[in-house]
Amino acid sequence: MRLVKALKRFCLITMCFFAAITGLKAQDFMVNIPNRSQISLNGKWECIIDPVDVGIKKWKSLYKDVPNNKDHRTEYAFISSNTLNVPGDFNSQRPELKFYESTVWYKKVINVKKKKGKRLFLYFDAVNYVSDVFLNSEKLGSHEGGFTPFQFEITNKVKDGENAIIIRVNNRRQKEGVPALGYDWVNYGGITRDVRLVETNETFIEDYFVQLKKGSGKRIEGYIQLNGSKLLQKISIKIPEAKINHTATTDHKGNAKISIDKKLELWSPSNPKLYRVIIQSETDSIEEHIGFRSISTNGTEIILNGQPIFLKGVNFHEEASERASRAYTKEDAKKHLNMAQELGCNFIRTAHYPQNEYVVRLAEEMGFMLWEEIPVFQGISFGNKKTVTLANKQLTEMLRRDKNRCAVIIWSVSNETYPNHTRTSVLKSLVDSCRVIDNTRLVSTALNKYEKKGNVFTIKDDLIEALDVIGMNQYLGWYNGWTVSPEDIVWKSEYNKPLIISEFGAEALYGHHGSNDDTSSWSEEFQETFYRKQITMQKNIPFLSGTCPWTLIDFRSPLRLHPIYQDYWNRKGLLSEQGYRKKAWYVMKAYYDTIK
Ligand code: GCU
Repeated sequence: MRLVKALKRFCLITMCFFAAITGLKAQDFMVNIPNRSQISLNGKWECIIDPVDVGIKKWKSLYKDVPNNKDHRTEYAFISSNTLNVPGDFNSQRPELKFYESTVWYKKVINVKKKKGKRLFLYFDAVNYVSDVFLNSEKLGSHEGGFTPFQFEITNKVKDGENAIIIRVNNRRQKEGVPALGYDWVNYGGITRDVRLVETNETFIEDYFVQLKKGSGKRIEGYIQLNGSKLLQKISIKIPEAKINHTATTDHKGNAKISIDKKLELWSPSNPKLYRVIIQSETDSIEEHIGFRSISTNGTEIILNGQPIFLKGVNFHEEASERASRAYTKEDAKKHLNMAQELGCNFIRTAHYPQNEYVVRLAEEMGFMLWEEIPVFQGISFGNKKTVTLANKQLTEMLRRDKNRCAVIIWSVSNETYPNHTRTSVLKSLVDSCRVIDNTRLVSTALNKYEKKGNVFTIKDDLIEALDVIGMNQYLGWYNGWTVSPEDIVWKSEYNKPLIISEFGAEALYGHHGSNDDTSSWSEEFQETFYRKQITMQKNIPFLSGTCPWTLIDFRSPLRLHPIYQDYWNRKGLLSEQGYRKKAWYVMKAYYDTIK
């Protein structure tokens, strides 16, 4: 009896403790982080690997930064010889952490000189998956979701001199999580992107939206949002090259709507024109480069700047395959984008989650149109309130970060979710949220269900009525054999909307060869034939407005267990993990070269 009582109390304490430390949520983050005044907190962070999470459950005070000396018989300590690189996933930094999915504690001591009238924020570009952040033993807050930024204001919490930041990061999969338990990529955990100490003025320009009005080629519409005590201010937007100097006044909430009519040089893949834009208020000034383009649909066509365009796409994960790790640098981003350019692409699906801001901004400079997606992937608990809230939050964060990126033409709310009433109504609500935040772009999702009767494949899903563009993942010739000859297949859709084949692909181990028929799976010849057949079939789809091979480059996955052909790699890349071109690469390149 006494034991049961003790256990109950222990659970209650742990729960209250959790409630105490997890109640605090991360704040809305400021946009345009690359151009803010800041100090990078990247580098080596001390760490403690905590496989069974005792730091919270047992020792309860690990976040308390207890001094590491022999008088304190604490059974843990941060020491300078035990570190991890930040940014960087922890799985690829130590062999024993290869598929690790639990807790790692990080610690960094920062030296701060407080300045009058200045505010300080800890800004994380992304941490996978759950992070609890402490400053000088005080809880700042938590964030859940591995692919979007979050920040905490520390102005009144930081002290002059040394301050200890401690973060508990846990990447354990969660049934109610987004993503949930099953997905075909390595669940790289840790502080996977840049960390910044950002300094702002007391009242600063926190957020803005500066893009062309939907369907307009010359009207800029949007808003500017201030954060601070002085919310009523005169603001201006200057675009010197276009001789724009627009002024307005914020309302009592610090918000100013903007509407500017001006003929501009429009951004497009062949002319990725970006303008220097300076946004000023009485107490702050920020600038960046923004492109202007209009994107819409007309029946089954996708219309860019008033002209139909075919999306020559490719998918890729945010992985540095040559390092078998999460990608996080500008160079990593450049590498993938150069590869996509060599393949002849004008469009990229950054699967299946918002990738690094480097990828999005570089893609824009290089002239790639983008499909961005939140990891609402396959088996999501749509019936769970927390899950739906989380999906909405990730969507809001993705749009908040990238709404000024003209390269992003499509927001995607999910990938391959099983059609049923709850799923459809939740996804429709996500589509609505998208349109409320940003009605200038197209909204889509990647489906994978279709009806098959004889040689007729019919696209049908109640969700489609809410979408602008249909995304369809189909693996005819790989997961599903060619039951009908590719040239005889007829795709049908009862929706007068553009279709993008958002995924198709087959596996091949680079350098493994076989005959050119469907028998030699895993061979380059098999994949080559597969692509020829897919292109034959796709050319016959009258409402096809884009296609996206799965995938650009082999990537790691804990699902891929064949010891010879896979060895924990998904081999559907057109390139091997070292970047070598497989035979299918040339088939896709030749096809894209035919599409002007
Ligand atoms: C799915 C999924 C991808 C996965 C691919 C595959 O369609 O969206 O994430 O990697 O198929 O099976 O290779």
